[in-house]
Amino acid sequence: SDTLTILGIESSCDDTAAALVRGVPGTVHILSSVIYGQAELHADFGGVVPEIAARAHAERVDTCVKEALFQADLALSDVDAIAVTAGPGLIGGVLSGVMCAKGLAAGAGKPLVGVNHLAGHALTPRLTDEIAYPYLMLLVSGGHCQFLLTRGHGDFSRLGGTIDDAPGEAFDKTARLLGLPQPGGPAVQAEAAHGNPTRFRFPRPLLDRPGCDLSFSGLKTALLRARDAIVTDKGGLTRQDRADLCASFQAAVVDVLAEKTARALTLYLAENPASPVLAVAGGVAANSAIRARLETLSADHAIRFLAPPLALCTDNAAMIAYAGLERFAAGEQDDMTLAARPRWPL
Ligand code: KG4
Ligand code: ZN
Repeated sequence: SDTLTILGIESSCDDTAAALVRGVPGTVHILSSVIYGQAELHADFGGVVPEIAARAHAERVDTCVKEALFQADLALSDVDAIAVTAGPGLIGGVLSGVMCAKGLAAGAGKPLVGVNHLAGHALTPRLTDEIAYPYLMLLVSGGHCQFLLTRGHGDFSRLGGTIDDAPGEAFDKTARLLGLPQPGGPAVQAEAAHGNPTRFRFPRPLLDRPGCDLSFSGLKTALLRARDAIVTDKGGLTRQDRADLCASFQAAVVDVLAEKTARALTLYLAENPASPVLAVAGGVAANSAIRARLETLSADHAIRFLAPPLALCTDNAAMIAYAGLERFAAGEQDDMTLAARPRWPL
């Protein structure tokens, strides 16, 4: 099939991003990938503030696209289609991206392709490696946690997911409760490295229930209780207390993810995939303890484990351009009625 050049735009959370990818489904290269992060804008508020995010996306998205074209040494006329995240996400941000994409598509006479942000994450293994369908994707980030049996660019089975918090959220809240910096994941992982993971026996939620659903909110409550017990007892936390709390918390997350992944693998392997792959995406996939356990689990099942480079695991526009490329190559596109959707399950 023909080589396609696709512009992708992403603005569904706190990163304004634009990228250009070129190739065919399963074999592409990234010509440019620009990300304007907003961490410093939200730092004082302990989380992403939708109003601030929306304004920043609206102000920056045009420049971001220009920068991506400049870095790829391309003009808009060189592009075959414009792909944009149409949801799910913070509606103000998604609207900024969709309106920008519509303006460019109308102005340059280019096809418009709406992309589900979760599909972008789920297709990342095909952006970075030539992974064949079907594969099992574990998406673990600050906002998401789900198992996606991925059979095609628009064919996903959700085998299970969190019924409350995402694991990244749990890492971030743990860091906040222990006075560690944000984002919490890297900080908690660093503390856990010199802590005792068996000192506190935190719950392993939902392991007693069949299926692949997960829960993380009870863990946070257990951690809060353990912290308060130490503070009441000794008047404060020592460095070792903090490290032990982090290590025990992380061990619980790892155990829960590993057990539920094992169950999801059983469902996936029942389809007899020719070259089975377990892939991860999302910021939490950066966690070395989680990676190590999933690697072991994959080896035990004699399947390939794939963790894409971190910059492509977290929010970016190359994955949106790539998901758009697969849709467009399959003859799918949208028109000017493309809507921004705050909620959009796969
Ligand atoms: O995918 P991502 O960049 O953004 C969205 O959630 O959309 O993921 C960010 C999340 C944060 O909650 C952060 O604390 C977590 O990923 N994270 C980690 C690690 N690095 C980042 N969690 C655990 N261990 C890490 N090393
Ligand atoms: Zn994301």
